[in-house]
Amino acid sequence: MPSLLIAGGRLLDPASGTDHPLDLAIAEGRIAAIGTPANPRLPHGPADRVIDAQGLLVTPGLIDPHVHLREPGHEHKETTASGAAAAARGGFTTVCCMPNTSPPLDTPELLRFIADRAASILASDLPACRVFPVAAATKGRKGDEPAEILLAAKAGAVAFSDDGDAIASAGVMNRVLTLVKQTGLAFMQHCQDPTMTRGGAMHAGEVALRLGLTGWPRAAEEIIAERDTRLALAVGARYHVQHISSAGTADILRRARATPQGQALITGEASPHHLTLTHHACESYNTNAKVNPPLREQVDVNALKEAVADGTITVLATDHAPHAADEKALPFEEAPMGMVGLETALPLYAEALVHAGAITWPRLIALLTINPARLCNLDALGLGRLAVGGPADITLIDPDLVWTVTPNELTSRSKNSPFLGRTLRGRAVATVVAGTVRHEHPR
Ligand code: DOR
Repeated sequence: MPSLLIAGGRLLDPASGTDHPLDLAIAEGRIAAIGTPANPRLPHGPADRVIDAQGLLVTPGLIDPHVHLREPGHEHKETTASGAAAAARGGFTTVCCMPNTSPPLDTPELLRFIADRAASILASDLPACRVFPVAAATKGRKGDEPAEILLAAKAGAVAFSDDGDAIASAGVMNRVLTLVKQTGLAFMQHCQDPTMTRGGAMHAGEVALRLGLTGWPRAAEEIIAERDTRLALAVGARYHVQHISSAGTADILRRARATPQGQALITGEASPHHLTLTHHACESYNTNAKVNPPLREQVDVNALKEAVADGTITVLATDHAPHAADEKALPFEEAPMGMVGLETALPLYAEALVHAGAITWPRLIALLTINPARLCNLDALGLGRLAVGGPADITLIDPDLVWTVTPNELTSRSKNSPFLGRTLRGRAVATVVAGTVRHEHPR
């Protein structure tokens, strides 16, 4: 494997608090040395390739703990390979894929199928990243009885979730949390009381009224988050709120994290679209803006940014949800919910949080590296940080590169993005996974 030197960049590693101009030497898939060019211990000479990182941020490989890769069952929307390629282009070196596939990932055999796919992708020369499966928490994702949670953990699950649906029954939720606690992994909840969202197509607000669409109230999310954070604290299980859309949910998370066990057990994530768009994106029945949970109002967007800034929300996740063009061409009520996100996430996070002055680049990188690594116990593999001897998963970011989102720019098999036509600032210009450059943007 060729050795690599990444020279002259601003090295940001939130896990160790590093923010300096430093070089990185990589050999045999691992970080061989970190130092200044003047440091004689840095093996400059023998590097097979030198990447000039002047003007770039050099960060641990970005980790997305919440993506949909559609395999098995919906390969026309995305495959593990096409999703991993899109992830690498977006700067992600690791993604965790959700189990709402067909069939759902609720058995050790299916988890091993994903692990095999992930291994073969990394063995190829294609743009790719690491892929870890999140296992279904209930059998068939039906919410009726817990899946084989202990076996799934042994088979490589990095978390549990019925994402796409919530576990509606408090009793089942309690049993799931009790089992998940024994694995040391986290449970991730898609907070949505289904009795409140039947027929709902978008946020319950003035745009839905004007468009004549059934609304989806904030309370549908908040009541599950409130119930679950109480259950998780009582059980002592790790619990994570996925794709927070409502200001009220951010408050619930803040209160839960303020309890004695809160910081250790309770976490939450925000997605790029909930940080940047409101329900107005659905005007003119734009199905690419139809997502679950729905885009809400400016007060919610502001509350999410504030929750990131004050440390309530500690993880960012795309909820990359590919859907085919013919499905998104259906009338708004019938079109599936979701949008692709892997290739546009980084500049959108930067726009919402860094350029807007809510947080600094080092804080943003923590939300995209060490924090999701800890959420999915991937820090135990050395992911999410830059350390000598650790895996050489690295992202090089040009924070000022301006580009326009077009369907041709997206390698995901689906193009259902509400950001098509938008000009964004910031881009991953190289993605290194286990010491191999898996994506490079021409500069
Ligand atoms: O909009 C969404 N789409 N939200 C989800 O939670 C699931 C996802 C999907 O699988 O399409």
